[in-house]
Amino acid sequence: MKYFTTTSKASRRSVDCVIVGVYNRGKLGAGATDVDAASKGQLLKLIKSGDVSSQAGACTVLPGVAGVKADRVAVVGLGKSGAVSASTFRKATAAAIRSLADTKTRSILNTLTLESVKGCDAYYLARHSVESIGDALYRFEQMKSGRKKPPMPLSMIGHSIAKRGDAAKTTRGADHGDAIANGVAVAKDLGNLPSNVCTPSYLARAAKKMASGNGKLTTQILNEAEMKRLGMGSLLSVTAGAIEPAKMIVMKYKGGGKDQPVVLVGKGVTFDTGGISLKPGAGMDEMKFDMCGAASVIGTMAAIARMKLPVNLTVVVPAVVNMPAGDATNPGDIVKSMSGQTIEVLNTDAEGRLILCDALTYSRRFKPAAIIDVATLTGACVVALGHHRCAIYSNNDALRDEVFAAGNSAEDLGWPMPLGEQYNAQLKSNFADMANIGGPGGGSVTAACFLERFTDGMNWAHLDIAGVAWKSGAQKGATGRPVSLLSEFVLSRAGALP
Ligand code: BES
Ligand code: MN
Ligand code: ZN
Repeated sequence: MKYFTTTSKASRRSVDCVIVGVYNRGKLGAGATDVDAASKGQLLKLIKSGDVSSQAGACTVLPGVAGVKADRVAVVGLGKSGAVSASTFRKATAAAIRSLADTKTRSILNTLTLESVKGCDAYYLARHSVESIGDALYRFEQMKSGRKKPPMPLSMIGHSIAKRGDAAKTTRGADHGDAIANGVAVAKDLGNLPSNVCTPSYLARAAKKMASGNGKLTTQILNEAEMKRLGMGSLLSVTAGAIEPAKMIVMKYKGGGKDQPVVLVGKGVTFDTGGISLKPGAGMDEMKFDMCGAASVIGTMAAIARMKLPVNLTVVVPAVVNMPAGDATNPGDIVKSMSGQTIEVLNTDAEGRLILCDALTYSRRFKPAAIIDVATLTGACVVALGHHRCAIYSNNDALRDEVFAAGNSAEDLGWPMPLGEQYNAQLKSNFADMANIGGPGGGSVTAACFLERFTDGMNWAHLDIAGVAWKSGAQKGATGRPVSLLSEFVLSRAGALP
C-alpha cells in the first residue's frame, strides 16, 4: 500500500474515490463542504431528499459527481456534530471501504482526517484511518475451494491535512497504521485457521518463517523433552492427553541494544476441549480461537519488527492442545510447576493458567522490563465485560495505568480489574499449594490471582481477552485484538510516538 498526504481540496484530486463526512441536520464536514460547493449544491440536495444519510455508520456512494475530479464520492455519516469519537471515525472509514468492496477502487482520499476527533492529533487520525481500512479489507478465504472473489484492488490511500505542518505526523501515523494493520491480519489469520491446520507445530513454523529474512528477529522452539528437563510439569499436564506435541515458542526482536526487553506471553491452546472436564458440544468449534492470545503476541511482533523500532521485544508462546484421553490429566491430579509450587488440578478446563504459569516462570531469564500475558482465559471475563473491553490486571499500578492508557489511545479498549487476598483465598487447596480454580464467583479475577503467584519481582500485567478476541454468529471470526493495544504499548516504550 502506498500513502500520501495532501492539502488540496477534496473535489480537485483525481483519485478513484474521495471519502467525505456529513453530520446530522445537514451539517457538512470539511471535505463534504467542498464537494457540495464544486457540485453546485448536489450533496445538500441529496441529504434533504433522504438519499444520503448522516447516521453514524451509514455510507452512500455517489458515482460521477459533477464538478468533482474523483470517479466517486463515498459520503459517510458521522452522526451528531461536535467532536466525533475515535470509534465513530474508525467505523465511518470502515463503512466507506465496505461500501466500495465490489468496485474497482484503486486509490482513495480520506478527508475525514480534517474533522475534529476527540483525543486524536494528525498522527492518530492517519493511524486509525489505515488500521480501520485494513480491518475492513481483511478476508479469510484460504480454506475455501473454487474461484474466489478478487479483493478490492486498493493500493493507494491519501489523507487530507489542513496544513503542511501536519504532513510528518500523518505520514508516520500511516506507516505505523500499516504495520499494525499487517500485525492484526497476521493474528486474524492464525486465529481463524482450524485446529487441524493450526497446531502447536504450525504456530512454531509460522514463527520461524516470520524470523527468516529479518536480521533482528530470531525464533527458538522448545520441545516437550526440553520442557520436561526445565520442570514444566504444569504445562505438560495439559498436553498429556494430546497426540500433537506441545511447543514453547520464543521470538526475540533486538532493536534496543542492551535494554531489558518487554516480554509478551500469549496463551496458545490451539484447541480447548476442556480435557477430562469436557466442555459441552454446543459452540465448541469456537475453542479453535483459544490460541488468540498467542496470535496477538505474534501479530504484535510482526508489527514491531516491520516498524524497525529501537526496542527489545520478546514473545513467548506456550502452545498445546487440551484433549481428553487415557493418559490425560484427571481432576484431582496434583502437578508441580516450574516454579516449584504444586497445583491441584480440580478442573482440567482451567488449562490456560496451567500453561501460562510455566511460561511466566520460564520468562524470568529474560529479566523483563515489563511482562504482559495475553489469554482467552475465562468465560467469566465475558460475563463481566462483554465483548467491548478486555480485562487488565497487574501487580504494579503504574504498569496497569500504562496498559489502560495504551488501550485508550489505540481505541482497543481494556478495563482495570482487581487482585487481592480475598480473591486469592478462593484458590486454597487441601492437598497442594493451590487449586487451579477458585469457585463460582469472580472467575476472571481468581484466574489472574493464580497467575500472579508466578510473577514475584516482575512488573507483570495480564490481559483476559476472552470477550474481545473473536466474534460469534454471522460475523464469526478472529478480531486481531489486542494487537493495537500491545503495539501502542511498545511504541510508547520505544519513545516512537509523536
Ligand atoms: N478457553 C476457556 C475460556 C473461554 C471460554 C473463553 C469461553 C471464551 C469463551 C478456558 O480455558 C476455560 O475453559 N475456562 C473455564 C475456567 C473454569 C473451568 C474455572 C471457564 O471459563 O469456564
Ligand atoms: Mn479451558
Ligand atoms: Zn482455554
